[in-house]
Amino acid sequence: MKKLFDLLILKFIIRSKINLWLGRIIFKNTGGLVSNSIGTYIKRRDPSKAKKLGFHKKENPMVNSLKEKGFLMLNDIQNEKTITELAVLWDKYTHQLELPESGRLELSSADKAKDLEEFIPLLEKLITEDIQDFLESYFGSYSRIINYHLYRNRKPPHLSELDSYGATANWHTDGSTSESIKLFFMLSDVTENNGPMQAISIEDSRNVFIKNSFFFPDSKGETRKFINEEAHIFNFQGKAGSLYYALTNDALHRATIPKDGEHRDLLVFYITSSSKKRPVNQQLKEANYREIYGLQRLFIN
Ligand SMILES: [Fe+2]
Repeated sequence: MKKLFDLLILKFIIRSKINLWLGRIIFKNTGGLVSNSIGTYIKRRDPSKAKKLGFHKKENPMVNSLKEKGFLMLNDIQNEKTITELAVLWDKYTHQLELPESGRLELSSADKAKDLEEFIPLLEKLITEDIQDFLESYFGSYSRIINYHLYRNRKPPHLSELDSYGATANWHTDGSTSESIKLFFMLSDVTENNGPMQAISIEDSRNVFIKNSFFFPDSKGETRKFINEEAHIFNFQGKAGSLYYALTNDALHRATIPKDGEHRDLLVFYITSSSKKRPVNQQLKEANYREIYGLQRLFIN
C-alpha cells in the first residue's frame, strides 16, 4: 500500500510537468520545485537544530570552492591500502554477476545491504575524520550517509551512448532534495580510456537552462553541442583512491563511455545533513535509502 502511495506521489507530483517546469524556471536544474524547496528548507533546519544540540562548526576554506563550482577533487591519496582491498573485494563480487544490458553493474546499500556487510569495515576507514569535518563544514551540521553504492561501467554491447547506464551518459542533474551531496572514490585508476565522469560548474549549468539548451534525452545532441562550445568541461580522472565531492543536484554531469574492453569502478556515498551525530559505522548499516526526492526528506534526520 505504502509503495503504491509512493509511486503515485512520484508520478503525479514529483515527476509532474508543472513541478519540473517550475523547478527549471526558479532553480535552474531538473530537480523540480518540491525537491529544491524542501532542500532549501532543510539547509536551514538542520544547522539550526544541530546548533541547539551543541554542534560547533569548523570552517574549511575548501567548502567555498565546492559551493561555488559544484565539485571539488582531491588527489591527495592516503587510503591506498584500503582502496586496494576494496577494489579486490569488489572485483571478486562482480565475477558472480552478469553485466546487465545497461552496461552498469551496481551494488547498492538500498537493496543489497546483506552483500555489503563485508565491505563495511573498509568503507568505514575511507570516511576519515577529515572527510567528516569537511562534510560538517559544508552542511553546517552533522552529516549522514543515506545510501552508498559501488558500480562498474563498461561499454554496453547493444545500446547507444544516450541509452547507456540508465541514461546517465546524457548531461543531467540528479533531482534528489537539493541539500544532498555525493562523495565519489575511484576504485581503480580513471583515465580518458575508461569513461571518466564529466561535470561543468554550477554557473555553466545554470547558463544551459537560461539559454534553453537543456534536453533530456539529448537525442539531437543540442545540449552536448552547447556545453562543448560554451562551458568548461571537467574530467574526473585520477589515480585509484582519488576522491571528489559533487553537488550533483545543481552541477550538470554525465558518465562517458569506456573504450571496448575497459571498465571504470567507482564508489559513491549519497550524503545529507543531520542534527544528530552518528558513528560512521551506524550510518553505513542504516543507509538503506534510495534517492530522496521530496516530502520524505522532512522525516529523515
Ligand atoms: Fe547523476
